[in-house]
Formats: sequence, C-alpha cells, structure tokens
Amino acid sequence: MSSRLKMLLLKKVYQNYKGNNLFPKNLMPICITYKHNENNFFIKTSIHTNDCTTGPSHKNKENKINDECNLIQTCLDKETVIENVLSDNLLINKAEPLCDKSKSKKIVIDFSSPNIAKPFHAGHLRSTIIGNFIANINKCFQNDVIKINYLGDWGTQFGLLQYGLYSENVDIDQLKDNPLKKLYEIYVRANKLAASHDDVHRQAKQYFAEIELGSTGIENWKKIRNVTITELEKIYNRLGIQFDEYHWESDYNGGAIQQLMSSLEDQKIIQTDNTGKKFAMVDDREVTVLKSDSSTLYLSRDIAALLDRYERYKFDKMLYIVDNAQTDHFAALFQIVSKVNKDCVRGCEHIKFGRIKGMSTRMGNVIFLTDILDEAKRKMYEKQQLSKNTRQSAMNEKTCETLGITAVVINDLKQRRQKDYNFVWDKVLQSEGDSGIKLQYLHCRLWSLEQNCGVTLPSVCEPKYLPEEVVGDVIVELAKFEDILYRAYLEYEASVIVNYLFRLARPVNRMFNELKVKNVPLDTAAQRLLVYHSARLVVKSGLEILGIEPLYEM
Ligand code: ARG
Repeated sequence: MSSRLKMLLLKKVYQNYKGNNLFPKNLMPICITYKHNENNFFIKTSIHTNDCTTGPSHKNKENKINDECNLIQTCLDKETVIENVLSDNLLINKAEPLCDKSKSKKIVIDFSSPNIAKPFHAGHLRSTIIGNFIANINKCFQNDVIKINYLGDWGTQFGLLQYGLYSENVDIDQLKDNPLKKLYEIYVRANKLAASHDDVHRQAKQYFAEIELGSTGIENWKKIRNVTITELEKIYNRLGIQFDEYHWESDYNGGAIQQLMSSLEDQKIIQTDNTGKKFAMVDDREVTVLKSDSSTLYLSRDIAALLDRYERYKFDKMLYIVDNAQTDHFAALFQIVSKVNKDCVRGCEHIKFGRIKGMSTRMGNVIFLTDILDEAKRKMYEKQQLSKNTRQSAMNEKTCETLGITAVVINDLKQRRQKDYNFVWDKVLQSEGDSGIKLQYLHCRLWSLEQNCGVTLPSVCEPKYLPEEVVGDVIVELAKFEDILYRAYLEYEASVIVNYLFRLARPVNRMFNELKVKNVPLDTAAQRLLVYHSARLVVKSGLEILGIEPLYEM
C-alpha cells in the first residue's frame, strides 16, 4: 500500500494496541484483503517486523511470505482512504522511493547466459525475461544491481565447431547473414560426423586443446565470440534489455584457475581418484570438478567465477537465474564454495524456474530467440489487420513488435516461476481474457481518455465527488500496488504483478462503462479523471517493471 496509507494504518494499529511501545519502529504491514462498503474500508494486514531490504521475518523455504502471521483487521473511513491513495498517485513522479537508499544492497544477477555455438533455447528465454524482471524490481527497491551475462564459450563443442569450420572451409568474416544460425548448423553437422567417426571426435578434441593453449584456433574463436555478442545484442535490444557486463566461461579456463584448484586440493576440498579425476564430496556423493586430463568443467569454472565475483563486487546477493534442471549443479557449487568462503555463499541463491514445453515456429522447433520474436511480431501484424479496433496510425512495425514481445513476456511471467508450462501460440497471442495485449490495450485506452476528454487533472483529490461503488473497487486495487511490488520482490515472483494487473483491469474496465468524464459537471469529471490517471500510472509502472514498454496507441 502507499506510504501515506501505511502511516494511517499503522496509527490505527497502534491505537488498537494502545501500548505504542510494544511495536517496533520498522513495522511492515502487508495487505491481504481489502473490502469496502458505503462508508468504510476494511483492511486485513499481516504485520511483519523487518525492513524492505531484508524482507519479512515470516518466509518459508520458497521465499513465500507467510500471511498467517499477525493478521490484523483495521477499519478506515472510505473518503480518507480514497484521498490517500489518489493523492499519493498525484505525487507519483516525485513520490518517495519504495525503500530507503541507505539500506541499498548490492545485488549481482547472472541471467540469460546462453552458450555459443549452441541454441539459445527456451530456458535461456525464460532466464532472460525473469532475470530482467528481477533486476528491475530490485532497482525499484533501491538496490544496486549488476547484470551479468555469463556466456558459455568453453568446452569440447568449440573443438567440434573448429573442426566444422576447417572442414567446410568457412570464413567467419563472410558469415554476414544470420551468423549464429550458420555457426550452429556447422556445429550440428560436425557433431553428427563425430558421433559416427572416432577420428573426427579425436580431431575436435585436439583442436580444443589447441585453443586452450592459445595457439592456432584462438583467432577463429575470438571472432566467433565477437559475432555472437553482436548478434545477441540485437536481440537484447529488441527486448529492451541491457547487461552491465559480459563474462565468459573461458575467463576461467584451465590455466586461469590452476592455482585455485591446487589450493582446493591442499585444503582437501577436492581429492583425486584412481583414474586421475578430481572430485569433491557433496552430500555423500562424488562430484567431478576436474577431468582426468585436468581439463575444466562447467562446475570448476563456476566455482572460480563465484569466488572471483565475490572479490570484485563484495555482493550482498548473487542470484543465478537458471532452470530447475541445474538444481544439483548449484547445490554442489554452493556447498563446495562454502568450504572456501562461507561469507561468499551466504548471499547466493539459485532462482529456479520451470520448463517451457512445445515452443516451435513455422520453421519447426525453435532454436533461436529471433524466430520467436519474429513470429510473434508477424502474428500480431495479422491480428492488428483483422481487428476493427486497430487505429490506422498504429499499424506499424514498431507497434506489432512491442505487442508481440508483450504477448510472449506476459504469457511467460503470468505463470508461477517454478511451474513447467506448455507454449501454445494461440494462447500466447490471445487478445481476450487475461493477456498482455489486454494490458497494453487498457493502457492505450486510459491514455487516449486523458488526452481527449478535454478536462485537466485536478491538483487535489476530493473524494466527495467519487461516491460510486465502482470507484471503491478501483481504489481497492490501486491501494494494493506497493504491497504487490514488495511481495513480488521478496518472492522473485513476477506473476504476482501480472495477475494483479489483470485484477486491476476488471474494475477499471467496469468504470469505463459506468462513469463518463465527458458531459458531466467539471468537478466530478476532474476527480474521475484522477482515478483513471492513477490507474494508468500503475499499469504503466507495472508493465515497465515486468520489462515491457507500454504502448500509447494500438
Ligand atoms: N550457459 C549455461 C547454460 O546454458 C547457463 C549459465 C548460468 N550461469 C552460471 N553461472 N552457471 O546451461
């Protein structure tokens, strides 16, 4: 709830509990339900005793807030609530931040992180969308965020790719059109060959060893990295996502982490078995850290990268946005690193998510994110053309692109993060019911009303002009916004915001039908406009936090 409303509510709570001193200063009320009748608002809150950077004391393993703790019901006068909620929104641009900057934490987020010469699969798409949201919401709460894209550019696949490039006589500089796809195709062909030809496999291994030594293959490999970054940035730009840093698995190659590995051995954190392979014990299981030929693995590189990041950033939190399938990997990583440096691991979290099933385009199974975005855009174009609501001026590429991205992003973020879900184009692109397109449409409609009603926004809120029930319904939702953000922030759960926006849309749409702004007395018109305006600002910032650019016309 807004800070003014929170103050009011706390005052009430204090009064009810008489002994003011019994309550600590940093109370954090989170609203569970609001109800209203003609005169009153009834607000049920759960009161937590922590501040917004550490989160409430009542959380379960999945980071979900436990609402059952300290439930308190408060009754507030309706006009007072309306006034407080809307006045806060009047000030929204200079509104006080959601959290005290002095409590700011340093949050490093590792997300997207695809592999070079391998497909950017649905899991990377989810990581990108969810990671971007987590970065945005952390910024809302005044945290200092560092976004890292940790690209997989190391491993035998590079030997295979190298083999393909040599045997097919490919010049990477000539791969102008869609280089990622071409590199992937070359890799796939080499991979197929290697499966049936031992000598190809051996040769590929040899090539990789050469790259690792920094000899012959290195030039090609640097070019591949550059091409990849350029191409990926085009996609990230489409999505409106910027990274602060690109890191490479190869930064932690055998040579670079040799010293660290020997020190792990000295400390008996890793041991050698009779084949020469080095392993660590994690929950009574042997987990390989270095291969018998001493070459590094995904895990060893992550161990080195984590310690390096801690050195560099002294982070409060290090969040890995990676799918459920890597649960064991991160459990092992954190356990091993905690034996080296407990402080470093304290803030580490694997933010897991479920699988997307059945994502495909006209071209077949999706490998490249561009295909998904292009397909979404194309389908949006067709839809816009067919719809009678479409404005001619909005029939352009940019609008269809944004609508396509909105559809894909909202379809993803409306699911609870940990759930697997089926990707069905018809569902993704639906414009009816709870969908991204509906939210964009709502934003456009509110904007257009503000622009065309001929009424100016009042400078104060006067609730006496807003007696209708439907206004109360809208206010109930608007009042929840900050709590919703807080909950989404603590639970790393974008669906909390998405579903909230869907719920907000309902009374706002009802109000559209019931309460006009044109041809009513000016004071009434102005106060109604204030409600619509507040609703639009909430939809706008909600969309922006989810990583979506709000549209003004469609
Ligand atoms: N490149 C990895 C993959 O595609 C994900 C990397 C995630 N980040 C990390 N530090 N392990 O599976």
